[in-house]
Amino acid sequence: MEIFLIMVISWFVLGLIIFCLFLFKWNEIRYNKKGLPPGSMGWPFFGETNEFLKQGPEFMKTQRTRYGKVFKSHILGSPTIISMDPELNRYILLNEAKGLIPGYPQSMLDILGTNNIAAVYGSNHKYIRNNLLSLIGIPLIKDQLMSRIDKYIRIHLSNWDGMNIDIQEKTMDMVFYVAFKQIAEAESNSVYNSFKCEFDKLLTGSLSLPINIPGTNYYQGFKGRKNIIKILTELIEKRRASPVIYDDMLDHMLNDAETKNTLNDVEIIDQIIAILYSGYETVSTTSMMAVKYLHDHQEALQELRGEHFAIRKRKTAEEPLDWDDYKSMRFTQRVVFETLRLASVVNGVLRKTTKDMKLNGFLVPKGWRIYVYTREINYDPILYQEPLKFNPWRWQDRNLESHNYCFLFGGGSRLCPGKELGIITLSIFLHYFVTTYRWEEIGGEVILQFPRVEAPNGYHINVMKV
Ligand code: HEM
Repeated sequence: MEIFLIMVISWFVLGLIIFCLFLFKWNEIRYNKKGLPPGSMGWPFFGETNEFLKQGPEFMKTQRTRYGKVFKSHILGSPTIISMDPELNRYILLNEAKGLIPGYPQSMLDILGTNNIAAVYGSNHKYIRNNLLSLIGIPLIKDQLMSRIDKYIRIHLSNWDGMNIDIQEKTMDMVFYVAFKQIAEAESNSVYNSFKCEFDKLLTGSLSLPINIPGTNYYQGFKGRKNIIKILTELIEKRRASPVIYDDMLDHMLNDAETKNTLNDVEIIDQIIAILYSGYETVSTTSMMAVKYLHDHQEALQELRGEHFAIRKRKTAEEPLDWDDYKSMRFTQRVVFETLRLASVVNGVLRKTTKDMKLNGFLVPKGWRIYVYTREINYDPILYQEPLKFNPWRWQDRNLESHNYCFLFGGGSRLCPGKELGIITLSIFLHYFVTTYRWEEIGGEVILQFPRVEAPNGYHINVMKV
């Protein structure tokens, strides 16, 4: 009897091992094609997502050691080619027309809208992007946006003296508030608050599994999107019925639509969502990380303060910053670039193939994702000496910003159209922050850098007037 029981258990364990081995091999069998790069595909459905999210950059380095700079994996629900090859990354970013289109997750595209700039390509992309550039390009920044950014950052920072604040939360609020005011300046606080509440839902839903049943983030995200469409549609109708000229982004979009028949209402709504979505996390986390690095590097803080006090000296207390002031903020821009590099605010971008193609001699099947992983380039000791050191002075060498592998703002036809606007917002924030306040860390903060830069429990500082 005992022997029989042992045999049954042994068979059961053996069966389980064979089943697990089969499961483990399932993705390898399913995605087996001749010519693919080396790599492992992990478990069915989940692939290697868990290892990717948990180990982050270490996972990438391990796989690169095993398989080389270009390898295959299965992450975030898709078979994916990961490229850590700077030359190939550049090729991919510069050759969208050859069938290398944006490959962001379906949940994101569903919730951000079918006219969203990340969802379109070819001539549609050109049309949406040109419209966007006419709204956030340098001429409008100089004439209108800069004074508005100045005004609302000043208001946001006005009463922090003596307070313990979570600078992560504050910079997120600031960036969203400033962006909203550029789009629809005259709207009341109550419109702003309900819009922000719905936008937060949309944001969470855009990075979720696409399961559309009540209770899921995806479902909430869709609800957020629906309500945002409702708020914006009402706003558009109100604007059309009013003779008042508001001179903000919404006004520009509506007037363009009337005169040049540019964007229709659905496209205008998706454009507004794109502006708010794309600049939100990037600018707020860069602001937070700049505060962190400046706190830890007093020499850099001193030089930055010097630059900004010199500007303040030329101006009266209430006088806003102008384009010439911004252009004179040389060291500030170096701080921004060094922060973006060292924190790796953007780890990489996603692309998708529209047909089977060969890259670096490997097959990339139609529909597979490509993760253009740019993070490692930020720490390349040949490009950046002592790459783990916060050293804004390194950016004095202008070639550093324009070298072929500087992907801090992406590249090719998707190069960030909000680059100047983002740098200006960061520069104005730093101007008022360092000329008004000094600060100390309260301590205990944890700042994660992968898969995104965030302080899960906040980054708390005590702020005092200088
Ligand atoms: C520090 C700030 C910023 C960083 C680091 C950053 C980074 C990037 C990167 C890496 C891309 C390329 C994405 C890709 O190739 O798929 C991108 C695209 C984009 N960014 Fe930014 N960005 C910043 C600020 C902003 C701001 C303030 C806006 C405001 C409108 C903005 C709007 C966009 C848009 C709409 C795209 C998509 C462009 C296209 O598909 O043609 N970004 N950004």
